[in-house]
Amino acid sequence: MSEAFDATDVIIAKRDGAALTPEQIDWVVDAYTRGVVAEEQMSALAMAILLRGMDRAEISRWTAAMIASGERMDFSDLGRPSVDKHSTGGVGDKITLPLAPLVASFGLAVPQLSGRGLGHTGGTLDKLESIPGWRAALSNAEMREQLQTVGAVICQAGSGLAPADRKLYALRDVTGTVESIPMIAASIMSKKIAEGTGALVLDVKVGSGAFMKEIDDARELARTMVDLGSDAGLRTTALITDMSTPLGLTAGNALEVAESLEVLAGGGPPDVVELTVALAAEMLAAGGLTDVDPAEHLTGGQAMDTWKAMIRAQDGDPDAPLPTARHTDEVLAPADGVLVGLDAYAVGLAAWRLGAGRTRRDEPVQAGAGVQLHAKPGAPVRAGQVLMTLHTDTPDRFERAREALADAVTIAPEGARPATGSVLLDRVEAR
Ligand code: URA
Repeated sequence: MSEAFDATDVIIAKRDGAALTPEQIDWVVDAYTRGVVAEEQMSALAMAILLRGMDRAEISRWTAAMIASGERMDFSDLGRPSVDKHSTGGVGDKITLPLAPLVASFGLAVPQLSGRGLGHTGGTLDKLESIPGWRAALSNAEMREQLQTVGAVICQAGSGLAPADRKLYALRDVTGTVESIPMIAASIMSKKIAEGTGALVLDVKVGSGAFMKEIDDARELARTMVDLGSDAGLRTTALITDMSTPLGLTAGNALEVAESLEVLAGGGPPDVVELTVALAAEMLAAGGLTDVDPAEHLTGGQAMDTWKAMIRAQDGDPDAPLPTARHTDEVLAPADGVLVGLDAYAVGLAAWRLGAGRTRRDEPVQAGAGVQLHAKPGAPVRAGQVLMTLHTDTPDRFERAREALADAVTIAPEGARPATGSVLLDRVEAR
């Protein structure tokens, strides 16, 4: 078959700063998925896009082309509004676990297609797989059935959803081209739009443990994604939230499930509760429920009931004990004073090195591994006090985890006032 364009011409156009035409974009995404545009050509184009950017029309078309590369699901006939949440990823970010059943307990459908962790941020599926028996892979029919009966489903995205993105993301990962706001936005939104949710709430993280280190970049990413959602007819809002410190007191798979259970039982760390409730309020509003208080279903037990039903529907035992690591070690406070800094990236890296995350896509993770924090910024500390417990099945990992944590903790003299405000930094809505 003769091809409509020459890949080299498309690369050169972007290299020289031109906007790609809709036809060029449709062709290059499709031809790459078919294997006609070679990996080295797509790497050059990805680098040109990273350096030159894309305008709103280009990003919108690029997203549509990635959606068109695969199947598109549709939940509009479920009989209840559907709403999903996507987080750009952070350390200790277990919010999906309490959030999905919480929102579903108000009668909305929450189709939450999730991924596994790669690098220092954990994956929701890895966390849930620490629950004995729980199954991540569901057929489309099983997912739909669970949305109808339970209301919430957290499962693996099928390979049919935006295959162009799957291929391109793997390429960006190894060519230094992940950090392009247009490509991150198109990647995330192509999967969410293809998934067929009726509304979407984004949690865009900013800080050392996030993709975006600067608030202005986080705002630009949030704005780009909200615009893409609006262009595609998907009601989308975004919260920009702090990821300079880990969320809650745990980073690691079973450790994070245990903390999520505390939240579902009406307790849990204040920052995790604050973010869960804020995102739930956004999701409920997107589904038409503006006069309800999500916190009442945490203290009232309705969210926990939905959690148990959701776990059972995927063959998990919500009452079985969670796995624990075979070995623990402690990190002690080096001085008296006030804890003013606890670096999210360092804690994420340590949890990963302890075995909570993977370095290759097919590697198993340790269910019990991770980092448990005993103090958060703002807390007074005494020299020798335990600040963190490290958990792993393989004690030879402790040394590298300790190296990751070498500069993680900042202690200021007594009387210092750390900035310990809300995790909620900003909100972006459709314009
Ligand atoms: N997550 C995605 O799905 N895609 C990106 O490009 C970055 C984060």
